[in-house]
Amino acid sequence: MTISDTMLSDIRVLEPLSSAAQRLLTLLGSSDYELEDVVAIVQSDLALTARLLRFTNSAAFGLGREVDSVEEAVRFAGDKIITGLALEGSATRVYASELSAYGCEGGALWRHSLITALFAREFAQRSRDRSKSGLAFAAGLLHDVGKVVLAGHMPASPSELLTDREVPDFEMLEQRATGADHSELGAQVAEHWELPRAIVESIRHHHHPSESAEDLRAIVHAVHLGDFMAMMAGLGTGADDLQYQLDPDYEAWIDLEPSELDRLSWRVREEFDQLISSLEES
Ligand SMILES: [Fe+2]
Ligand SMILES: [Fe+2]
Repeated sequence: MTISDTMLSDIRVLEPLSSAAQRLLTLLGSSDYELEDVVAIVQSDLALTARLLRFTNSAAFGLGREVDSVEEAVRFAGDKIITGLALEGSATRVYASELSAYGCEGGALWRHSLITALFAREFAQRSRDRSKSGLAFAAGLLHDVGKVVLAGHMPASPSELLTDREVPDFEMLEQRATGADHSELGAQVAEHWELPRAIVESIRHHHHPSESAEDLRAIVHAVHLGDFMAMMAGLGTGADDLQYQLDPDYEAWIDLEPSELDRLSWRVREEFDQLISSLEES
């Protein structure tokens, strides 16, 4: 793979995450932390505090009473949702991008990332390494961040790429068109943002989890399967939807009864719909 100098400089100029978002992502990676740690980070960021209070007070969040303290808001929203709020607020250019090279309209990358994160958290909780479910959520939110960089280097329309029918997956098309793919570029973005190794590794191998480091393979499979389920739910990012292979090895890492999958998908979809309407309202 060849990553060009212009791609590298695009990575370097990508707006940095807010300090609160970065600290929350790192916190999710530590094995034990307290609610007060999350409260302290939220309170250090005025915009995030305001956003969280608007979110927990939105009618769609459905508490039915006013929440006016950060402690209470943190308890109701939960650390993972707060990380989502911090990331969405901090990396607006990333998530709002319209990726015309993928035929992906503005906002679709955010919706795809959020539902992938919700699925990834569920799968990580059923995986061989349950301690990483918080990180799986964060990695799910960021797994396709490389598309934002790569889209600027791809042909303007996806139809030019999709004429090549002989390739096993969309990343091969990206490599043929640009010399790089969105997983590797995304991993480099996460390295540039100094995010935990589990997030970097999950992004780098989310389409080929069997190639990831063994100590992190459970979380990488959780993100991989989450991404796949997001696409199956009709929440992909455009031209590359379902243009990837599902790695059957996930069964060795995630304990999932096929009969459970329908119920789980339904629950995630409900959570997703509620989150999206609370976010739109806040
Ligand atoms: Fe991807
Ligand atoms: Fe994806």
